[in-house]
Amino acid sequence: MNIIDIYARKKRDMAYIEKELERGVFSEHAMLRETSVHLLKAGGKRIRPIFVLLAGELGDYSTETLKLVAVPMELIHMASLVHDDVIDDADTRRGQLTVKSKWDNRIAMYTGDYIFAKALGVVTQLPNPLVHQIMSKAIVEMSIGEMEQIRFFFHTGQTVRDYLLRIKRKTALLIAISCQLGAIAANAPEPLARKLYSYGYNVGMAFQIRDDVLDLCGTEQQLGKPPGSDVRQGNITLPVLLALREPDRRERLLAELDRIQAADGQTNVDTFIGLVRTSVGLKQAERIAERYIERAIRSLDALPDRQTKRDLIRIAHFVGSRSN
Ligand code: IPE
Ligand code: IPE
Ligand code: MG
Ligand code: MG
Repeated sequence: MNIIDIYARKKRDMAYIEKELERGVFSEHAMLRETSVHLLKAGGKRIRPIFVLLAGELGDYSTETLKLVAVPMELIHMASLVHDDVIDDADTRRGQLTVKSKWDNRIAMYTGDYIFAKALGVVTQLPNPLVHQIMSKAIVEMSIGEMEQIRFFFHTGQTVRDYLLRIKRKTALLIAISCQLGAIAANAPEPLARKLYSYGYNVGMAFQIRDDVLDLCGTEQQLGKPPGSDVRQGNITLPVLLALREPDRRERLLAELDRIQAADGQTNVDTFIGLVRTSVGLKQAERIAERYIERAIRSLDALPDRQTKRDLIRIAHFVGSRSN
């Protein structure tokens, strides 16, 4: 399945959101305009705005109101990517040069700050402090998640729990609140907003696990960046943690990790990737992602059986098996 099929029904509204995103990052300042438009035009799945819109269908649907959440959610995500690419020293994203690579790290840091600020400018047009607080908290958690990722670089003694808490913070919460805030902005009943949060949280966990699996199994074409980026920077992901439990490859994996760390990531990681790809750990990680998807779908049990619910289920399945 392609994500485009899921968007078909929301094509008009998503085109409107896209225009608003362009308006959202506009700046009189030529350099800021160029850097942020560069990332916007590079594409991306826009999965957070689509969640906002779908969740909004559970209440009084109005694109005028929902855009005040959908646009900031995508902008917060974009800002975090610009910064993430500095931390990861990544040259490509969405198949294009990253801001830090096309310009430099200083430009990327301010571009990220600028996009964050623009997100605030949009969401504060919504006179609902609860929405502002939820968003602020999620950005704080995301920062903690990214900090924790640095703290755990090349840390082979970390537990699966450490990993799960980290990806909850850095990825799942933002997707959870995209769903929750879409419902809140549309004045949907509170219990529904809570269910949507739970759906988004579980989809978000699967989303990052899938991202981590793809970094090991995907092609450069699919990923828009070279595979193996995680291990090069020292990010130990779920498939690796689980593969490290396998006696027949633990020692070889540890030796490879030592070698990669000593080379500061500037070395061939094919042997390492091969060892993880052929491990049981990889299958187990995929299975864990599937379980999150099942949980996400179960969170929707109480929802009326309408198109919204069917689309949310379809997106959940897409996330569980996505290859881009
Ligand atoms: C990438 O997010 C970063 C993660 C949280 C895994 P996406 O996969 O949503 O990135 P784009 O927006 O489609 O490029
Ligand atoms: C997601 O993590 C980054 C943020 C949540 C900011 P990754 O580092 O795995 O994202 P990619 O793989 O670079 O897109
Ligand atoms: Mg990254
Ligand atoms: Mg990744």
